[in-house]
Amino acid sequence: MKCPHDPFRDQRKNSPIQTCDFQGETVPMILRHGDLRAACKDWKTYSSDAPFRVPIPSEEELRRVRQLPIETDPPEQTEWRKIVEPFFKRAKLPEVIEAVEKLFDEMLDLAAKSESIEIVRDFALPVQSRALTYLLDVPEAEGDIWTSWGIHVFKDGDDEEQKGMVLENYLREKFDAAEENPGDDFFSALTKATFQDRPLTRDEMMGFANLAFAGGRDTVIHTITSIFSYFAENPAALESLKGEPKRIVAASEEFFRVVTPLTHIGRVCPVTTDVHGFEVKPEGRVSMCWSSANNDEEVFDSPEEIRLDRKPNPHVAFGFGAHLCLGAPHARLLVRTLIEKLSERSFSIEVLERVEKVENEESYSRSVGYESLVVALN
Ligand code: HEM
Repeated sequence: MKCPHDPFRDQRKNSPIQTCDFQGETVPMILRHGDLRAACKDWKTYSSDAPFRVPIPSEEELRRVRQLPIETDPPEQTEWRKIVEPFFKRAKLPEVIEAVEKLFDEMLDLAAKSESIEIVRDFALPVQSRALTYLLDVPEAEGDIWTSWGIHVFKDGDDEEQKGMVLENYLREKFDAAEENPGDDFFSALTKATFQDRPLTRDEMMGFANLAFAGGRDTVIHTITSIFSYFAENPAALESLKGEPKRIVAASEEFFRVVTPLTHIGRVCPVTTDVHGFEVKPEGRVSMCWSSANNDEEVFDSPEEIRLDRKPNPHVAFGFGAHLCLGAPHARLLVRTLIEKLSERSFSIEVLERVEKVENEESYSRSVGYESLVVALN
C-alpha cells in the first residue's frame, strides 16, 4: 500500500472548500484541518440533528431508524451517548484486551496454515465480528452469525426491500429476548435504559444498535486490510516494530490517518449559512472531509508519506468534538494487537491478488482499502 492519492490536494491549496454533487444536492466539503475542527465544534451552525442525512450519501433507503447518538446534537447527544458509553469503554478492560489477543493468535494461526487467505472476508470480517461480541458483552458465537451476513449487508443488498432488513430482523429478536429475560449485555442494557426519565422506544434501541454494528464494520475491515498490504511491501518496517509497544501505538495512528476509512460525514445547516463563500440553504448539507484534513500540509509534514513514527499526529480519522468516535478505543485495540502479533511472528506477507476499493463521486475518486486482498503468510 502506498499512501492513497489525495484527491483534494490541489483544491485545498486554492480554496477551503470543494463542492461535490451527492444525490442531486451540491454539498460544500470543508477541506482544511483548522476549518474542519472549528466547524465540528460549532454544532449550532453545523448540526447532526438530521436523521439519515449525517452520512453522505444519505441513508433513507438503507435503514428505517435514526442512528443514535450520531444523528443528534448536544445537549441531548451527551445524554444519549452516556447510555452506551460503558460498553464502548470495555475496550480498556484487561479481559477484553486478552480476548482480542487470543482472537488474533487464533486467526493468524489459521491463516498461516492455509496456502493463501483472502483478508477482507476470511480474516478482517470474522475478526471484526468476533471482537464486537467482546465489546457488546454477548456470546462469542453471535459473531459467526454477523460474519455470515457478508461484507455488504448494510450497504448494497441485491434486493431493495431487503436492504438493512437482515440486521433489523436480527435486532428485533434480540430485543424481544432481552425484554423477556434481561442480562448484562448491550441489548439488555438498551431495554433497561432511560432517556430523560422515560424508557427508550424500540426504534431508539434499534438506532443505537444499528450504529454499533454499521459504524465499526467497513472502517475496521479497510484499516486491517490496508495494514496487511502495507507490511507486505515494507517487511523491514514490520520487523522494526517487534517488541516496541510505544512505536506500535504511533504506527497505528499513522495507519488511521493514512487510510481514513470514512472519507467524510455530513452536517446540516438549520438556516442559510455562508460556508467559506458558498451559500447553503436551510436544511442543506455540508461535508466534514476527514480525509482531506488528514492530508493538510499546514498540519502534517509531507502528508503523502507514510511515517510510522509520525509525532504529533493530530489526525481526525475518528472525527472531532462532541461526536468523536465512541468505537475508537476498540479500533485502536484491534489495530495495535494486529501489528503486535504480525511483528512477533516475523511473518513474510506476500500479496497474490488485490482488488482496490474506490469511492467514485462526481468531483473526486478516492481509494478506500480493498474489495479483496489475497495473501500468503509464511
Ligand atoms: C477505524 C475505525 C473507525 C473509524 C475511522 C471511525 C470513524 C468515525 C467518525 C469519523 C465518527 C464521527 C462522526 C461525526 O462526527 O458525525 C465516528 C463516530 C462514531 N463511531 Fe466510529 N469509527 C471507527 C470505528 C468504530 C467502531 C469499531 C465502532 C463501534 C463498535 C464505532 C462507532 C461509532 C459511534 C457509536 C459513533 C458516534 C459517536 C457520537 O455520535 O457521539 N466506530 N466514527
